[in-house]
Amino acid sequence: MHVDFGADEAIGTAPVDRLAALSAPAPMVAASTRAAAGSAAEVAAACQTIDDLVAAIGAFAGCGLRRTATHAVVYDGNPAARVMLVGEAPGAEEDRLGKPFVGPAGKLLDRMLAAIGLDRGAVYITNTIFWRPPGNRTPTPEETAQCLPFVERQIALIAPRVLVFVGASAAKALLGRAEGITRLRGRWLSYQASGLNAPIDAMATFHPAYLLRQPSHKREVWRDLLAIRAKLETA
Ligand code: URA
Repeated sequence: MHVDFGADEAIGTAPVDRLAALSAPAPMVAASTRAAAGSAAEVAAACQTIDDLVAAIGAFAGCGLRRTATHAVVYDGNPAARVMLVGEAPGAEEDRLGKPFVGPAGKLLDRMLAAIGLDRGAVYITNTIFWRPPGNRTPTPEETAQCLPFVERQIALIAPRVLVFVGASAAKALLGRAEGITRLRGRWLSYQASGLNAPIDAMATFHPAYLLRQPSHKREVWRDLLAIRAKLETA
């Protein structure tokens, strides 16, 4: 019965009154999130390599999701790749193995990449969030803000030719735009951030987990993939 409602994990021995937390004064919550994000920004800025970032994320205590996760899931693939993909958050398999996109959605992602001649040796894959949210719930804006400096620093260090936002969460977090994925996907966007020498060509597309539920949208994703391949051929 609990599982039917999405409660598939025991995360504590004592009951927690989460409604009480909702009535806590908002500025206090916002201030603690700002402090965590502020210190994340300082820690991330000090990282000079992806190995530094992996170590810094592993030691970062500013995101509560780490308490319920088995592993921090940072990246897979090749830090020298010209293509960088950013997904949403680790799921159960990712949490177990410590690697992004290794569950059912990841297997579909691998097939999508293979369709345009790419594999994990030719791409760098990360997520917007580094720890699995309990029960695979959607990450909160606070959790996203806490992890964002590390995602942005990864983009600056990898400096890919093409950035792919895999799903709405990554597109929203990194572009800071209000449009949904249906409007954002399928066109070239420009990703700009401090720490980058030049803007990066970016494409948003549907998440493979969504495609597993709605296979009819594979057609649009195929068009996005062809546009990415064409961009890489001319770059
Ligand atoms: N979905 C994601 O967005 N990322 C993963 O790593 C796995 C599933």
